[in-house]
Amino acid sequence: MKKYRDHYFKKAKQEHYPARSVYKLQEIDKRFHVLGAGFQVLDLGAAPGSWTLWAARKVGPGGRVLAADIQATETQFPENAVFLQEDVFERSAAFQAELDARKPFDVVLSDMAPKTTGVKFADQARSLELAVEALAVAQDCLIKGGSFVVKIFMGPDDGELRAAMRDAFEAVKAFKPQSSRSESKEIFYVGLRFRGAGASAPEEGEPKPPDPKPPDAATGNGRGDAPT
Ligand SMILES: C[S@@+](CC[C@H](N)C(=O)[O-])C[C@H]1O[C@@H](n2cnc3c(N)ncnc32)[C@H](O)[C@@H]1O
Repeated sequence: MKKYRDHYFKKAKQEHYPARSVYKLQEIDKRFHVLGAGFQVLDLGAAPGSWTLWAARKVGPGGRVLAADIQATETQFPENAVFLQEDVFERSAAFQAELDARKPFDVVLSDMAPKTTGVKFADQARSLELAVEALAVAQDCLIKGGSFVVKIFMGPDDGELRAAMRDAFEAVKAFKPQSSRSESKEIFYVGLRFRGAGASAPEEGEPKPPDPKPPDAATGNGRGDAPT
């Protein structure tokens, strides 16, 4: 077992998080400041619940987290977080009603991942489908100026997702957290400053719309940052 794997695994146990993946969200948030007090958060692919626990802490009592996963979890969530067992591709009427009642969300997170088969291209294709579906949900539910974090297994067709995100967000960043295993092909794309439902990227030469939020401070050149 690799050293860093031990480290994050043990740390998660000590800090009572059900999965080491919590540190990926912490790194993403440290870099891009996607979570804030009072925020409404949608967390897709939430089981066993580390991201939800962390997001609920970050948004505090004035914020709320709606979490969903195709699998159940036994994690106990605080009062400001609700977990629903749902397939993102086949949203029940109850889940859709909950989304409609809570939207607009300030942030949509997706750490969704398919059950891996070992067949690289099949796993990448399924991961892309999940990411594209998460983007569709985000485009329906996000507030103008909001943020979107999505995980994908890197593959030959990622350009499709990046292009769609560039259309929907003023900035799109690629990020590989330190806590993500180096042998893992996962990467996170972060969409910042949602242009708004139905809006698309301005054509070259068109004037840019004014910033709905001050520019983010997350422009460093850390590991995995990639121009988009
Ligand atoms: C890496 S885990 C998420 C870990 C979680 N962020 C945490 O911190 O505890 C990926 C999750 O995506 C979920 N998932 C995969 N396909 C899904 C789908 N169609 N709808 C909802 N969740 C899905 C899996 O069940 C799995 O729990």
